Amino acid sequence: TSPFTVLGIETSCDDTGVAVVDSTGRILGESLASQASIHENFGGIVPGLAREAHALNIQSTISDALNKAGMDVTEVDAVAVTVGPGLEICLRVGCEAAKTLAITHSKPFVGVHHLEAHILMSRLNSSLEFPFLSLLVSGGHCQLLRCDGIGEYKVVGGTLDDSLGEAYDKVARMLNLPVGGGGGPAVEKLALKGDPTVVKLPVPMQQRKDCDFSFAGLKNAFRMAVGKMKEIRGIEEGGDLEEQDKADLAASFQNVAIKHLSQRIKYAINNTKEDAPSINKLVVVGGVAANKAIRESLKRICDDNEWEFFVPEARLCTDNGVMAAWAGIEKINCRISDVAETQEVFARYP
Ligand code: KG4
Ligand code: ZN
Repeated sequence: TSPFTVLGIETSCDDTGVAVVDSTGRILGESLASQASIHENFGGIVPGLAREAHALNIQSTISDALNKAGMDVTEVDAVAVTVGPGLEICLRVGCEAAKTLAITHSKPFVGVHHLEAHILMSRLNSSLEFPFLSLLVSGGHCQLLRCDGIGEYKVVGGTLDDSLGEAYDKVARMLNLPVGGGGGPAVEKLALKGDPTVVKLPVPMQQRKDCDFSFAGLKNAFRMAVGKMKEIRGIEEGGDLEEQDKADLAASFQNVAIKHLSQRIKYAINNTKEDAPSINKLVVVGGVAANKAIRESLKRICDDNEWEFFVPEARLCTDNGVMAAWAGIEKINCRISDVAETQEVFARYP
């Protein structure tokens, strides 16, 4: 079959992402309008402002992606868009734009699930085949899933409270680091300069040997550790810590978070060896999967267990248009669609 192209739109959170991808996995053009500077001053994402920024940027982001691909919208074969989960009023902006394009130019419309799109990024330009185990760590979610095929996912573990991305964002805020567009990258960078043994934080859920996660306790312990460090240094409430102290705190947090993830993944691998021995692959996806220390630790566990390890390119772990386009392609390829018009693509590419 000849390759087909899909225009993908992602507006579930704070980034307006659009991309044109072809069915061989080539990214023909992509554009991302970041809202980092807008939310920076608020210490988090303000949904109303996010919606406004999406509305302001959506058309130029679509044009930019098409320009980079050297294509006109009439030349794409289908339009895919994230339909959820995410911020309702933000998703709507992307969905309306996609719907208008699809209707105006008589293109098939493919709705994609945001979490599935994160997971499927591990199959873009990789040899990864189903079934596999997937650790999805983002700002909104923390799940361990058994993936048997497109649309066939079973949750085998989840967080009892916060997501890991949320914990990274809170840690960044407590250390007065830049948080616009997510605090994770700033914490990761600072942790490189820190000593993880200086501040003692508890590894969550030591008493429970299962595949669930918890980050609320760690977040609280971190808050207390910051307070204690300020007290030792004689810094007033609201004052800022020295760079090295912040680095040590960041390193401790990341070290414990990785210990927690590693422990749960080891349980999951052991369970899988018993229950589903045909599965011997792990993928890590979602915004937090961009973290180098996390990628390296999980790879090591896979190596030790003779499991294969897959992770998308770091820049494609966080939300972007490519994931919507690629998930659309995967769904078209296995004939899954939310709308009957998609039959058109099937007919053209039997
Ligand atoms: O997948 P994503 O872009 O949006 C959601 O679907 O939630 O994930 C965003 C999350 C944010 O919490 C951000 O701080 C975190 O991913 N993140 C990171 C890194 N890059 C992004 N966390 C740790 N280390 C990173 N390098
Ligand atoms: Zn996401």
